[in-house]
Amino acid sequence: RRRADRWARRPPLESAGMGKLAASILSADLAHLADEVKLVEPYADIIHVDIMDGHFVPPIALGTVFVASLRPCTDRVLHGHLMVDAPEASFEELADAGLDVVSFHHEAVGDPEPAIAKARATGMRAGVTLNLETPVEAAFPYLEEIDDLMLMSIHPGWSGQELNPDVYPRIEAAREEVDRRGLAVDIEIDGGVKVENAQRAVDAGATVLVSASGIYQAPDKVEAARALAEIATRGRPTQPASDGTR
Ligand code: DX5
Ligand code: ZN
Repeated sequence: RRRADRWARRPPLESAGMGKLAASILSADLAHLADEVKLVEPYADIIHVDIMDGHFVPPIALGTVFVASLRPCTDRVLHGHLMVDAPEASFEELADAGLDVVSFHHEAVGDPEPAIAKARATGMRAGVTLNLETPVEAAFPYLEEIDDLMLMSIHPGWSGQELNPDVYPRIEAAREEVDRRGLAVDIEIDGGVKVENAQRAVDAGATVLVSASGIYQAPDKVEAARALAEIATRGRPTQPASDGTR
């Protein structure tokens, strides 16, 4: 199965740069995954799937078979966040499983360029992710090549950690560079995003808010998703106001 057909119907640039919520299922009740996804579908444009190999990060989590099980349950964009060494080795089977967007860590590859090309060759959209310790400028040579730049605001591996505010100036720097070049690259923040801090991330220039515990550990998951989506889609104050409909 090739993703190219899907994107012929849902072109990537149509929504790039517009605010979106990505629900990260890492802290959902995975025994009832389809239900957990349905709950947030009215508000989440993207379902974020954390894939971990026990080596790049200590935990092992959510691989290809998981994506394949999830695919028929939702028509939302499935975004794989690969926290694995040698991510290219999995692109083909992840694309076949129905993944739409694949992000890999800059720290996991010697040269991102071949990995980006390989991801695209499978029909997926491609993204680069940076840990907090990696200078944000490390992604600048590849901005023209990618659809998505994801900036970690925690140490990858676990949900439920607190957002590190060092991410804000990093988002600002990325936003400035993306805008300066007139690109439609999405800038995502991943880790510790909650209703209380989401506006700050959007103000800094993030267009995609990833949230796991902020949704799935909230007392009211649907309300948390709604509130986060509202913040994401409302965007920055300097941007023209959206019509507020979803
Ligand atoms: C952690 C993952 C995150 C995680 C976020 O390595 O990349 O996507 O699910 O969890 P919260 O939103 O709880 O910090
Ligand atoms: Zn993630």
